[in-house]
Amino acid sequence: MVNVRPFEVASPKFAQSGSEAIVEAAPVLWMTGLSGSGKTTIAKILAKIVRRAGTACCILDGDELRQGLNKDLSFSDSDRTENVRRVAEVAKSLGSQGILAIVCLISPFHCHRSLARAIIGTGFAEIFVDTPLAVCIERDQKGLYAKAIRGEIDSFTGISSRFDVPDSSQLTLQTTDKTALELAYEIYNKFVAPSITDHP
Ligand code: ADX
Repeated sequence: MVNVRPFEVASPKFAQSGSEAIVEAAPVLWMTGLSGSGKTTIAKILAKIVRRAGTACCILDGDELRQGLNKDLSFSDSDRTENVRRVAEVAKSLGSQGILAIVCLISPFHCHRSLARAIIGTGFAEIFVDTPLAVCIERDQKGLYAKAIRGEIDSFTGISSRFDVPDSSQLTLQTTDKTALELAYEIYNKFVAPSITDHP
């Protein structure tokens, strides 16, 4: 059986002997970065790689969760904090059941990332998807930057709301000169491959 454990933890969080399944806590890969930085694209490729390696994983994506679980939340500072809190709790729960959570949330403020780190604890890995604002504005896949610049969207990250450049990420991805596949493998090799264990 292939299983995953937090990269900082050497021993299983929960294990049963004999023929029972062994469930260990999995890492939570927390991807932070501007809207359009590539978090979701990289996460989808990473999820395929992880599943192909025989490990269960789940993507928790801000855009998607805001259609359901978090649909009551706005982009005010306090609602973003609540967004981060809820997603961190879900990710923690998945991780504790051996499911690798890949989180894609702008989580723009230092306090957001600290909150996630505090909730998740061991196994939290912060990955900064470092795409320059100018590149995100130029790509503008969803047309949101143009709207934000015209003043049609309030508190838009990078335009009318700040993004604190992370200072405690375990990995920073420069996205402009690498493919999403290469970046997904950077994450996989650093955080996932070392944590996979084989059980008889
Ligand atoms: S977070 O700041 O609370 O972490 P989250 O990752 O859930 O944000 O959602 C970000 C996505 O919401 C963006 O990729 C974009 O598609 C959409 N969005 C809509 N309004 C805003 C806004 N004001 N600021 C940032 N993103 C927004």
